[in-house]
Amino acid sequence: MTSGPSLAAEIGRAYDTVPYEGGAIPALALPALRGAAAALGLEPSPGPVLDVLDIGCGAAAQLLEASRHSAGRMVGIDASADSCERARARGAHLGERWRILHGDAASITAEELGQFDVIYLVGTAYVMPPPARAAALALMARCLRPGGVAVITAYTGLVGVARSWLAGILRAGNDTSLRPDRQLALARANLRALAAVVPAQGEATQLARATLAAMEAASDVVLFHEALGPVFDPLLAGDLEAALAPAGLAYLNALPPLALAPGVSSSAAARSADALDFTTGGGYRTMLFARPGAPGQGLRHPGVVWTAALRREQAPDGGAVFTDPARRAMINGHTPWARAQLEALCAGPGTWRELRDKAASLLPGLGVAPPDPTAFDTGLDEILVLLWRQAMIQPSFSVAG
Ligand SMILES: C[S@@+](CC[C@H](N)C(=O)[O-])C[C@H]1O[C@@H](n2cnc3c(N)ncnc32)[C@H](O)[C@@H]1O
Repeated sequence: MTSGPSLAAEIGRAYDTVPYEGGAIPALALPALRGAAAALGLEPSPGPVLDVLDIGCGAAAQLLEASRHSAGRMVGIDASADSCERARARGAHLGERWRILHGDAASITAEELGQFDVIYLVGTAYVMPPPARAAALALMARCLRPGGVAVITAYTGLVGVARSWLAGILRAGNDTSLRPDRQLALARANLRALAAVVPAQGEATQLARATLAAMEAASDVVLFHEALGPVFDPLLAGDLEAALAPAGLAYLNALPPLALAPGVSSSAAARSADALDFTTGGGYRTMLFARPGAPGQGLRHPGVVWTAALRREQAPDGGAVFTDPARRAMINGHTPWARAQLEALCAGPGTWRELRDKAASLLPGLGVAPPDPTAFDTGLDEILVLLWRQAMIQPSFSVAG
């Protein structure tokens, strides 16, 4: 294996050979991202003109989506010439505000790039050689404006470790002199052989089976770059935080947010996230970092609009049950307050204040006296956080709000 800049170039060439066509992730669109940051206590930059940097942008689907919400500069960096070419073509209509740089993120300086309100490092940090990863984090730290948000995705926890371990086995059984389709066939055969010999019982049996199944379900492109590529590392939020904190960036939380204690320091929050991911398994995480501007008002920030994916259904006992459309989760309105708050969320998107007023107006119909405002407000905060954790509602940010 090569190292340093030549390894980064080799990884870029692998993406030329087997192109990756990522789509824009809705939860990472600018309004959703700024809404999440505001809900986590950050005061996002107020204007509609946001400058966005995407490190490891690939064919730049996320950056293009960002350009629909902002008239600011859209800058992408990628080590793959083919991805850069597709990215350039994709945003050509945007003129000078669309800029795609081909190269190793480690070879580009903050001075060349300027300052940004949002920086993405999505699908990339864990396939970067560690020196390139460190350089990308340093770039992120130097380029993020006050009030700005940085997004890093990574595999974490035991799921991440198991996936990376399995990738190491497949890599060792690979023959890189073969054509990519033959390498993939070999990897899939090796996966089947491993799946056939997992013992029926044992400490890690369940994790091994789940990891094998996830890897088998991966597309050829993902399998090629993650399992057969030279680098595929699980990452700790605590390590990322330690790299970013000296430059003033703070860990906010994951998306959807983990159950972290409110008000703790950035490093304690990141270490708690890692501890949670160890005990609950972890997975593919989106982590939010920020350079704090003015302290925000969290869930009650007037710019945050809560959008529900909740559906209300009548229960046999006459009560109401609330589910998300994919029916991954359901929640009962056990108390009249909770019921009124859930009904308000189902009525359509609204700011915290609008939800609160709507829920309060529903209470008399449920035969309940007007609420004690403090308890009612805390109850609404709690239910919003609970539903957001379960991905049943989403915050987005409206500048007009
Ligand atoms: C899985 S793709 C993700 C692309 C895009 N962010 C997305 O989510 O669709 C990973 C990208 O990281 C790029 N990459 C890997 N190492 C890099 C480095 N050192 N510098 C710049 N780009 C790099 C690859 O070329 C590839 O396009």
